[in-house]
Amino acid sequence: MGKDVIIACDFSSAEETFRFLDRFTGRKPFVKIGMELFYSEGPDIVKKIKARGHKIFLDLKLHDIPNTVKKAMHVLSSLDADIVNLHASGTVPMMEAALEGLMREDGTRPLLIAVTQLTSTDQEHLEKDLLIEKPVQEVVMHYAKNARKAGLDGVVCSPLEAAAVHASCGNDFLTVTPGVRFADGDLGDQKRVMTPAAAKEAGSDYIVVGRPITAAEDPVAAYERCVRDFCD
Ligand code: C5P
Repeated sequence: MGKDVIIACDFSSAEETFRFLDRFTGRKPFVKIGMELFYSEGPDIVKKIKARGHKIFLDLKLHDIPNTVKKAMHVLSSLDADIVNLHASGTVPMMEAALEGLMREDGTRPLLIAVTQLTSTDQEHLEKDLLIEKPVQEVVMHYAKNARKAGLDGVVCSPLEAAAVHASCGNDFLTVTPGVRFADGDLGDQKRVMTPAAAKEAGSDYIVVGRPITAAEDPVAAYERCVRDFCD
């Protein structure tokens, strides 16, 4: 897979999601399905969007004991998503078990990527709540290396970390980066952001873009602007 723009379809119903996707006549954008849509519509929503011809990043961020994650990944694998994810803080054995669970009988599997540290976790919470005293950047790089060691395909990270992740884990190790905003756009609740063009420069492989596309007056034009700035 090459560089691509993934639209975060943070809607709470299938109806709303399909109404949104119907605007893209002749285009089949890569779609991210998160917990909100998955929990409200159930696993079938993945198959339905896939049947419409979209690639899917299923963003459910699994984190449990290795055996449970392995079995859950086995179920998710049958939904035919292209990318699934988990929390790297679940440890290397959990990530290895997840990979085993994802493998289909025919030897294929979705790509598996790891969340390092959520961008909502800052240094203060790392130290006070989690008793992790290392700098957050160091923790992110350590978790990325663990994911690489476990055999995963990449990480979810900030575009600001993409270059460092590639430097320590290799250029073929995927960086999937949310926190993308147009220079003239609203930040919303995102703090550490980059434009699509800057994310391209930083070496992101995939940008995940939600509200700058879903809340735009013309979502198709906003998506095409992202593709032009990031992929071309
Ligand atoms: O609307 P916006 O572009 O901020 O959406 C970004 C998407 O990426 C959301 O679905 C959000 O949950 C997700 N995400 C994020 N930061 C992370 C991991 C996921 O913004 N660290």
